[in-house]
Amino acid sequence: MGEFRDALNVDCNYCHGGGRPQEVDINPRKDIARKMIMLVRQINSNFPGTGVFPVGDQAVTCWTCHRGDTHPVSLSNKRYDPPAPKQ
Ligand code: HEC
Ligand code: HEC
Repeated sequence: MGEFRDALNVDCNYCHGGGRPQEVDINPRKDIARKMIMLVRQINSNFPGTGVFPVGDQAVTCWTCHRGDTHPVSLSNKRYDPPAPKQ
């Protein structure tokens, strides 16, 4: 989790809803993060000279693309804003 936080340069609540239990699943960023985890696994399992985690090396991480930015420059440039907080 710390690695995610540092790679995106955010705090834990960026993906985990603020003021709610950590398990609450309403934040779309958390869902995107899950897909990102799959993406990173897929890349690493096909990366030359490495195996599938935890066997080979982790050649590509969140940091590889994000570099302290939530939104690496891409063609679509879509944002996943969380829903407005409940009153
Ligand atoms: C980039 C988004 C992101 C950031 C930032 C992040 N998390 Fe998570 N966190 C996730 C995802 C995705 C899961 C896995 C949820 C699943 O698939 O069930 C998770 C799971 C967890 C869980 C297990 C309970 C749950 O929600 O499933 C805890 C506890 C947790 N994170 C704590 C933290 C803490 C503490 C920090 C700050 C150091 C942090 N997280 C930062 C995305 C994030
Ligand atoms: C191959 C490059 C790449 C890697 C590796 C990667 N990301 Fe991403 N990520 C992106 C791009 C590009 C976007 C912007 C997507 C768009 O424009 O729709 C993004 C968007 C996101 C977002 C949504 C941000 C927002 O607020 O809109 C989250 C959260 C995220 N990534 C988390 C992660 C985590 C966690 C990891 C590591 C497990 C990771 N990413 C690894 C390229 C990457």
